[in-house]
Amino acid sequence: MSTTETAIASAEAHSAHNYHPLPVVVASAEGAWMTDVEGRRYLDLLAGYSALNFGHGNRRLIDAAKAQLDRVTLTSRAFHHDRFADFCTDLAALCGMETVLPMNTGAEAVETAVKTARKWGYRVKGVPDGMAKIIVASDNFHGRTTTIVSFSTDPEARADFGPYTPGFEIVPYGDLTAMREAMTENTVAVLIEPIQGEAGVLVPPAGYLPGVRELTRERNVLFIADEIQSGLGRTGKTFALDHEGVVPDMYVLGKALGGGVVPVSAVVSSADVLGVFRPGEHGSTFGGNPLACAVALEVIAMLRTGEYQQRAAELGDHLHRELGLLTGGGAVESVRGRGLWAGVDIAPALGTGREISEKLMELGVLVKDTHGSTIRIAPPLVISKEDLDWGLDRLRAVLSA
Ligand SMILES: Cc1ncc(COP(=O)(O)O)c(C=O)c1O
Repeated sequence: MSTTETAIASAEAHSAHNYHPLPVVVASAEGAWMTDVEGRRYLDLLAGYSALNFGHGNRRLIDAAKAQLDRVTLTSRAFHHDRFADFCTDLAALCGMETVLPMNTGAEAVETAVKTARKWGYRVKGVPDGMAKIIVASDNFHGRTTTIVSFSTDPEARADFGPYTPGFEIVPYGDLTAMREAMTENTVAVLIEPIQGEAGVLVPPAGYLPGVRELTRERNVLFIADEIQSGLGRTGKTFALDHEGVVPDMYVLGKALGGGVVPVSAVVSSADVLGVFRPGEHGSTFGGNPLACAVALEVIAMLRTGEYQQRAAELGDHLHRELGLLTGGGAVESVRGRGLWAGVDIAPALGTGREISEKLMELGVLVKDTHGSTIRIAPPLVISKEDLDWGLDRLRAVLSA
């Protein structure tokens, strides 16, 4: 057996099969490139589902992490530490908000948003105890906890994990009328992704997001934007909502906030909304730890320059222009997305998304399928135009084979 086959067989023997990875075993990575255990190089067009917006081994982020490793890595929130205030101040400023509640993974931040909205509903809005409702969208992906999968419409994500958490109302994504009709005086929040990543990079119809903003404001309902995948530069702006000039009541952030180095997530909102929490009501041993704050501070500083957003916008225009040329020829049915983020529906006759991903892997390009024959493309924002074109050439080769 090859080194690759041995590593995969061993992983399969001793790990739960909750993923179906492509048969590549990565040993090192730099920028937009990964190298496997046998020395083969691959262009990374997935970027850890947007956790690696700044590329693998980003020098600035690795240096920040290394410097912090030598100082202090964990205090728990039982004590203050000297990176915490700057992290909260800078992240709040980046978001144009006041208050930050740090966690670790995306799902934890979504759970935090749900708890915040419920508590706000009871304490501020005056919803009767136990009656709070949160409106979510069909085909959502907000994470994997039992509460979050309770409001998933994906049978694979949800089946066999009941009993489910009540208190959620699912309406079709992009349908403002359905959202308006689902709203009652007990609705405390709307929780949506401004672009649905896992669903296949679905961009809602123009006017939908401003409409959600108007409706939620009218009805005294919190607008919670899950920008865990869409935020922090991916779409060519700091937040996907920026494209529509919309400011939510709460951002839920994760993935790229940790620079692909450590898990860092956060809920960012107003002092009024996050002010509902008192000591002991919510927390996390690792949330807001010094190492996480040190890396995230550097991520925030990098985003403050606007350079990565601009890069994503320019290279994104190029990506979408090139992908657009593939539609109409029969091989690609449609392309969606914004910035350096695309969902590409391949003609099913050419293979499943998985098969296309495997063929691309053989040519040195790593992408991941979503549902059916859809693949998504989300390279690190630091990718060069030449490398992106090299990857697109390989995609064209697979589609014309
Ligand atoms: C929009 C969105 N929300 C939440 C999550 C969950 O994040 P995590 O896997 O860090 O729990 C994801 C992960 O893909 C996501 O894309």
